[in-house]
Amino acid sequence: MTKNQIVEILSISEPDSLQALYQRANQVKISTIGNKVFLRGLIEFSNICGKNCYYCGIRHDNKEVVRYELSDEQVLEAVDFAWKNHYGSVVLQSGELTSAHFIKRITDLLYKIKEYTNNEVGITLSCGEQTAATYRQWFDAGAHRYLLRIETSNRELYYKLHPNNDKHSFDKRLDAIRLLREEGYQVGTGVMIGLPFQTIEQLADDLLFFQKINVDMVGMGPYLEHDQTPLYQYKNLLLPPEKRLELALKMVSALRILMPDINIAATTALQVLSPMGREQALKAGANVFMPNITPDDFRKQYLLYNNKPGTNKIIIPDNDDAEYRINISNIEIGYDQWGDSKHFKKE
Ligand code: 5AD
Ligand code: SF4
Repeated sequence: MTKNQIVEILSISEPDSLQALYQRANQVKISTIGNKVFLRGLIEFSNICGKNCYYCGIRHDNKEVVRYELSDEQVLEAVDFAWKNHYGSVVLQSGELTSAHFIKRITDLLYKIKEYTNNEVGITLSCGEQTAATYRQWFDAGAHRYLLRIETSNRELYYKLHPNNDKHSFDKRLDAIRLLREEGYQVGTGVMIGLPFQTIEQLADDLLFFQKINVDMVGMGPYLEHDQTPLYQYKNLLLPPEKRLELALKMVSALRILMPDINIAATTALQVLSPMGREQALKAGANVFMPNITPDDFRKQYLLYNNKPGTNKIIIPDNDDAEYRINISNIEIGYDQWGDSKHFKKE
């Protein structure tokens, strides 16, 4: 697809044309990788972060956040839940730290998880920018997929979302994605959709960027405001929630058509804009679903944005509920499988 064709797709607003787009993407998915969704239990094991992204609720300078780190036992308990429920894999996600303590902690944890589950559970990491040596150490300890969103592939927009300093360098982030590939990981990246100042043309470029760097997996979702962040001041520039959800779904569909055999996640942020947002994405090209299995007591401290699901007083039973809802959508669940990207395997 050319950039113009993608822009055209992202500009669709007529309801029948939208449905036709979602259906076409769904067909591409079914004929390429099958009508199947893979589950990953998401464990947000620490909200301690050394960075200051302007959009993120758990940024370092937000002093309102109560910081936590799960113990090894708490992580293993969550892994056990995923394993016993046949999820096939887990994602370990945290804020970004680069201390020797943090690096070793994760290495040890990876060995423990692999041993505990007899190497049955696949592990994806999402722990930010690290050196090649660290990525290698974690790979050797058992991680085989890594998520590192570029957030936007547009350098100018990137610096409207991040401080312009060494810790938040666009080039370093690009480089980290390249290092991950070199170290042998299946590499996932992604962007936020509907950011203040973001244009449809930039989103089209984001999709072409994924294609250019030949990613194996993509997780992208709508940008959602958080009132304790610097970007909140631009909330009047945002699309209304329905339109932001629609744009995110169009991005998923366009990407599925562009890269038919990669893994595409139906992300949590979609659920904030509509209770069935993730299921809609599964019908529009997505094939990965990440039920949050972080212990209840900690979830409300991992607030990347306002109204994050499962953080109310009444905890949404995401796990049972999610599987139930996927099942009634007539999509098969790939139980007990790592669900590697077909794209990666092909190479
Ligand atoms: N809205 C949407 N997504 C967000 N993330 C962080 N803050 C927000 C927000 N306010 C996403 C980023 C990050 C991922 C872990 O969460 O894309 O990479
Ligand atoms: Fe830290 Fe990630 Fe939030 Fe940035 S997006 S502040 S790196 S947790």
